[in-house]
Amino acid sequence: MAQLINVDDYRKRARRVLPRMVYDYLEGGAEAELLLDRNHRVLANIRLLPRRLRDVHKRDQRIELFGRQQSAPFLIGPTGLNGAFRPEGDISLARAAARAGIPFTLSTPAQSTIEAVARGAGGDLWFQLYVVEKGLAKSLVGRALDAGYSTLVLTTDVPVNGKRERDMRNGFGVPFKLTPRMLADGALHPGWAWRFVRSGMPQLANFVTEDAANTQAQYAVMHRQMDASFDWDDLAWLRQLWPNTLLVKGILSPDDAARAVECGADGVIVSNHGGRQLDDLPSPLEVLPEIAARVACPVLVDSGYRRGSDVVKALALGASAVLLGRAPLYGLAARGERGVDEVLALLSSEIDTTMALIGAASINDLDSTFVLK
Ligand code: FNR
Repeated sequence: MAQLINVDDYRKRARRVLPRMVYDYLEGGAEAELLLDRNHRVLANIRLLPRRLRDVHKRDQRIELFGRQQSAPFLIGPTGLNGAFRPEGDISLARAAARAGIPFTLSTPAQSTIEAVARGAGGDLWFQLYVVEKGLAKSLVGRALDAGYSTLVLTTDVPVNGKRERDMRNGFGVPFKLTPRMLADGALHPGWAWRFVRSGMPQLANFVTEDAANTQAQYAVMHRQMDASFDWDDLAWLRQLWPNTLLVKGILSPDDAARAVECGADGVIVSNHGGRQLDDLPSPLEVLPEIAARVACPVLVDSGYRRGSDVVKALALGASAVLLGRAPLYGLAARGERGVDEVLALLSSEIDTTMALIGAASINDLDSTFVLK
C-alpha cells in the first residue's frame, strides 16, 4: 500500500476507494475547472522570504479567534453531503476537529442533524447556513443556537448552483439514483458500497425533523435552489436572530467586506467556494491583502489549501485563519475518522516545519515581510 505522507496522497487514495461519481462530486469545480488550478497556482507562486538566526527552538501555532483558543490556524470548513464519503461523515469530521482543538463547521446539507453533531462530537461547532426560505433559516439558526454552536457562517456565493459539468455528466444528485451505472460503479468499490448498504443512503438530516419537514424546502436544498433574493437587509435581519459570532462567507470584493461589517458581521471568509461556483473568479489570495487592509475584523480565507506552507502564506498576507474544504474529506474518504486525524496532524506538522524554516516562532510573528515582494 502506498505511503500517505501528504494531502495529495490522501486525495489519490480517496480517488481509488470512492465510486467515480462520488469522487467527481468531491473534487470537481465549475465549468472548465480553470479556477481549481488557479487557486493552486496563486499559492504556489508566492515565495516565502526566510529570516535567519532567530530563536525557533520552540514554536507555537495556536491562535485566538473570536475570543476562543484553537490549537492550529486552520479549521474544518462547511462541506455538504459528507455522508456520501463515509456514513456519519459529519460526526467523524467534528470529532477529529475537537481532538485537534480546532472548530468544525456543519453544513446545511449535512447527513447528521445539528443536534446529533453537538451530542456526538463536542468541541467548537460552527453552523453554515444556506437560505432556501427565511422561515426555515430562522428555524435552523434557532436550533444551532439551542445546541450550543458558537458561530454562524452565512454562505453568500450560491444564489444559484454553479455549473458543475462532472456532476451533470454523471447524473450526480441526492437522493442517489440507483442507475445501472451507479450500481456498476458501486460494485467496483465494494468497501464503499458495503458501508452504504449497511447504513442506508445519505439524507439531508436537518430537513427530516418535524419543524423542518417541508418537502418543498428539501427539494430546493437537494437542487441547491436558494433564496436568490436574500440581500444586505436580510443580513441585518439574520444579525438580529444570532447573538453569537456571525461570519459572511464567499466575499471577494473589498466593498462587500466593508458592507458585511457595517451590517454587523464579526468577520468575513474570503472564498471562491473551492472553484465550484463560477470559473472566472480571482483566487482569494489575489484579493486578500486589500480586504484585510480595508476591514478591522478577522478575515478568514479558503480555496486550494493543501500544504502547511499554503496556510503560512495566507497568514503572512493578512488572514486570521484558513478553512479546509477538500483536504479533510480526502482523509475521511481514504481512511475514515483516523484519516481525518492524520490529515489534520500532517498539516500542523508542515506548518511547524515551515515556521522553523522561515524563522517564525509564533503565528503572531507572521506578516508580509515573510513574503517575497
Ligand atoms: C463545499 N463547499 C461548501 N460551502 C458551503 O458554504 N456549504 C456547503 O454545503 C459546501 N459544500 C461543499 C461540498 C464539497 C464537496 C466541497 C469540496 C466544498 C465549499 C467549502 O466550504 C470551501 O469553500 C471550499 O471547499 C474550499 O476549497 P478547498 O479547500 O476544497 O480547495
